Amino acid sequence: MDLVKEIQRLKKEKNAVILAHYYQVPEIQDIADYVGDSLGLSQKAAETDADIIVFAGVHFMAETAKILNPSKTVVLPDLDAGCSLADSCPPDEFEKFTKAHPDHIVITYVNCSAEIKALTDIVCTSSNALKIVNSIPKDQPIIFAPDRNLGQYIINETGRDMLLWDGSCIVHEAFSMEKLLDLHKKYPDYKIIAHPESETHILNTATYIGSTSGMINYVREHQDEKFIVATEAGILHKMQQEMPNTELVPAPAKEDNTCACSECHFMKMNTLQKLHDCLLNESPQVDVDEAIRERALLPIQRMLDLSK
Ligand code: 13P
Ligand code: SF4
Repeated sequence: MDLVKEIQRLKKEKNAVILAHYYQVPEIQDIADYVGDSLGLSQKAAETDADIIVFAGVHFMAETAKILNPSKTVVLPDLDAGCSLADSCPPDEFEKFTKAHPDHIVITYVNCSAEIKALTDIVCTSSNALKIVNSIPKDQPIIFAPDRNLGQYIINETGRDMLLWDGSCIVHEAFSMEKLLDLHKKYPDYKIIAHPESETHILNTATYIGSTSGMINYVREHQDEKFIVATEAGILHKMQQEMPNTELVPAPAKEDNTCACSECHFMKMNTLQKLHDCLLNESPQVDVDEAIRERALLPIQRMLDLSK
């Protein structure tokens, strides 16, 4: 069976749309109707008129699509495609934390569960985090969760004194500073670009810091330059597809990492076969409890309104 043709046939027959993140395997990115960062994917999910959303990403992303589209069917190729960052913020502990600081506004990075979003005042992604934090009055104390690295980056950029939750992404914490500096010595004319989920010492080496879309845009605008790319390695597919003559090297990971570059094993759980099967069977579906969904929708909607 030609999987690509069969997916295209099923998509038409069922009025489905395929949304994929830049960290997905190349063959999934190539068949998707839209490939984007977390903000772009939320915006697409909010405006689609498809009956079925095939979310080629991780669970919190599909959950966000379901929160925005309760009457639509949202399927995820592999239900185990989770996220270490989302897992680092258990709802009961986070609720205690927010209750201990009742005067704080709660801003959460979209990489968290629906339960955490339900405890949130406003959601953000890496592409609008600075804008969202800057939209809060200066005298208003803020809790920022779950990513301590993105939180620290925002503190450094805005001068805001935010209370940070101690969560992180295993992929963006896997970069080796020592190996990165060695690589930079080997390629001194390469510029380092980094995702803000990376640790501060990595970010301090970067010429540009931004979301996955931000990094792709930056490379597009500087095609004659050469780059060391510090984010999940899947992004190189889109960069090289669009900018085949730009020289790119993925930032190296620490010795004990399973991959020499940083790959998110959650994102890589989705395969073209699983994507086909979930579209055919309309399963596994991602569902959200209605009471939680209603509370989680508000902070997502606030973010989307501020990002227009
Ligand atoms: P963005 O694509 O929004 O930059 O997010 C990166 C990420 O880690 C998604 O899990
Ligand atoms: Fe989560 Fe990190 Fe994977 Fe993104 S790259 S899905 S933040 S574990």
